[in-house]
Amino acid sequence: MYRTNYCGLVRSAHIDEQITLCGWVDRRRDHGGVIFLDLRDREGIVQVVFDSDAGEFFEQADKVRSEYVLKVTGRVRARSEATVNPNMGTGEIEVYGTELEILNSATTPPFQLDDHITVGEDIRLKYRYMDLRRTEMQNSLRFRSKITSSIRNYLVDDGFLDIETPIMTRATPEGARDYLIPSRTHPGQFFAMPQSPQLFKQMLMVAGFDRYYQIAKCFRDEDLRADRQPEFTQIDIEASFIDEEDIMATTETMIRGIFAEHMGVEFDAFPRMTYADAMAKYGSDKPDLRIPLELVEIKDLLKDIEFKVFAGPANDPACRVTALKVPGGAEISRKQIDDYTKFVSIYGAKGLAWIKVNAIETGIEGLQSPIIKFLGDDVTMNIMQRLDAQNGDIVFFGADKSQVVSEALGALRCKVGEDLNLYTSKWAPMWVVDFPMFETTADGGLTPLHHPFTAPSCSIEELQANPVTALSRAYDMVLNGCELGGGSIRIHDQVMQAAVFDVLNISADEQREKFGFLLDALQYGAPPHGGLAFGLDRLIMLMVGADSIRDVIAFPKTQSAACLLTDAPSVVDSTQLRDLNIRVRKKED
Ligand code: AMO
Ligand code: AMP
Repeated sequence: MYRTNYCGLVRSAHIDEQITLCGWVDRRRDHGGVIFLDLRDREGIVQVVFDSDAGEFFEQADKVRSEYVLKVTGRVRARSEATVNPNMGTGEIEVYGTELEILNSATTPPFQLDDHITVGEDIRLKYRYMDLRRTEMQNSLRFRSKITSSIRNYLVDDGFLDIETPIMTRATPEGARDYLIPSRTHPGQFFAMPQSPQLFKQMLMVAGFDRYYQIAKCFRDEDLRADRQPEFTQIDIEASFIDEEDIMATTETMIRGIFAEHMGVEFDAFPRMTYADAMAKYGSDKPDLRIPLELVEIKDLLKDIEFKVFAGPANDPACRVTALKVPGGAEISRKQIDDYTKFVSIYGAKGLAWIKVNAIETGIEGLQSPIIKFLGDDVTMNIMQRLDAQNGDIVFFGADKSQVVSEALGALRCKVGEDLNLYTSKWAPMWVVDFPMFETTADGGLTPLHHPFTAPSCSIEELQANPVTALSRAYDMVLNGCELGGGSIRIHDQVMQAAVFDVLNISADEQREKFGFLLDALQYGAPPHGGLAFGLDRLIMLMVGADSIRDVIAFPKTQSAACLLTDAPSVVDSTQLRDLNIRVRKKED
C-alpha cells in the first residue's frame, strides 16, 4: 500500500498518528532550515514540514519542485495558534515529515494551477490533464459524478432499466448533421453516429421493456456554442403506457429531488407555458423567467400612422410590432443604446427605436425619443398607457418579421436583464408545452420542430388539412433560459407516422429507405409511449454555475470541434484510407 490517508482529509483527530501520504507538490516554501511542502491530492491540500532532523530526506525535500509526485511519511501535529488556517480543511494541523520519496519529477507546468486562471482556454485544453488538477475542475467533475449517481438511483428505484444502444448505427435525425463512420466491409457505405438514441429507445418500447433510461453519448455536427458540443451526454428516458403528465411528473420530481439533495434548493411545482405565450411574451421558446421583463404587442396602435418603419409591419400578418419596457432604463446612455442596436442587428433587426420616460405626469413633454415626431403625440401616449410607463423607464421597439422581432427583443430582454442585474430569483425552472408540429423553412417547406417521431395532438385528417397550425405532444424543460431537456409522446401508429413523413415531403421510397425498420416495428404491436432527454452537461453547468459546458466535461472539444489534447481529428495514412475505399479530394477553395 502506497498511502494510509488522503492529504485533504487529515484532521485534528489524527494528531500524533504516523501517516503516509501521496500527492503532488502544490507549493514549496523554503524558510531557511525549514521546508514547507503543500501536498495535494484529489481531496485537498495538507502542509508538510521538513527540517534538518529529517537528514537525507530534508535534502530530498530541498530538491522537489511544483507538481513533483511524492510519497511522504510523517507525524501529524497541531499547528501553533498563530499559523492555524481556518480556510483549509486541514488548517489546524500539519505533517512533520520523517521520510520522503520522489515518485516522479515534473517539468515546469505550462501555466499556474490556481483558480484565477489567466491563460487562454486553448492552453488549458492542450494540457487538459494539468487543467483538471485545479480545484475548480476537480470539484465540477466530482459533482458531475455525484449527480449521475443520484440520477441512476432515482431512475432505477422508479423501475427504469439501463439499456445500451449502438454508437455505430443509421442516421437518427435530430436536426443536425451526422458524424459518419466509413465501413471497410461494405465499401462505399457509412454508419452514422447517433444524434440521440431516439429510434432505439422506441424499439425498446416495442420490445416491451416498458421503462428505459441511459446516460448516453450523442453526436451532432452543428454550429457550436457555449452550451453545445459535438459530443455530449443525454439522460435519455422512455416509457410505455404513459401520457405527457406521467413523463413530466417523473422527470420534474427527479430534477426537484436532485436540486434538493445536492443544492439545498426546494422548487415549487414548475410553471407551464404554451409555446405561443412564450414567444409572445418572451420572444423565446426557452424564456428566462428570472428576468421580470415582458414583450408587449402594440401592432393595433400603429396601423394608421405615417411612419413606414412601424406602419408597414403593423399591417402585415407575418410581422410583429413589439415594445419592451425596462424599468430604470432611462439611465442607459446613448452609447449603450448604440451598442444594443448593434446587438439586435445580429438577429436581423434593422434598428432599435426607443423612448425614455422622464416625467410622464407632464405628458409628451416628459418623454425623450427620436421617434415621437414620427409616431405623433396621441399614438405615443397610447403606447405609454398600454405599457403603464413610469418615470425612469426606457421602452425599446422592434418592428419586423415576427421571427426577427422575437429573436431580437427576446435576446435584448436577457441582455438588458443581465446588464442591469434585474434578476428576481436565482432559479427559474419551467415547462414549455403545446409546441407546433412543424416550422416553415426558408424555402417554404416544413421541418419538424422537435423530431419527426413526435405525436401531433390532433387527428390525421386535421394534421393533413392544417399542418402549419397543428400542435404536438412535445414538452421542454427550461431552467434559467436554458433548454435543459425535451421530449414528447411518440407516434405509435404506422399510418400516422407515414402521414407525418408525407407532410414533411419525404417520399414513400425515402421513408422505406431511411425509416423502414421503424415503420415495420410500428406494425408489430407498438405500445403508446413517450419520453424525454436531458442534456446532462447543461444541467451540471447550471448547477455549478459554469459559463460553458466545456467546464463540466473532462475532455471537451473546441469551438471548431477539435480536441487540442490529442490533436484530433487528424489525417490517416493512405493504407487505412485504401482499406476503407476512400480517396480524399483536395479541398476546393
Ligand atoms: P433534443 O434534441 O432536444 O431531444 O436533445 C435533448 C437535450 O440534449 C441537450 N443537447 C445538447 N447538449 C450539448 N450539446 C449539444 N450539441 C446538444 N444538443 C442537445 C439539450 C436538449 O434539451 N431524442 C430527443 C429527446 C426525446 O424526444 O426524448 C432529443 O434528442 O439539453
Ligand atoms: P430611421 O427612420 O431608419 O432613422 O429610424 C428611426 C428610429 O427607428 C431609429 O431609432 C431606428 O433605430 C429605429 N428603427 C428603424 N427600423 C426599426 C425597426 N425595424 N424596428 C425598431 N426600430 C427601428
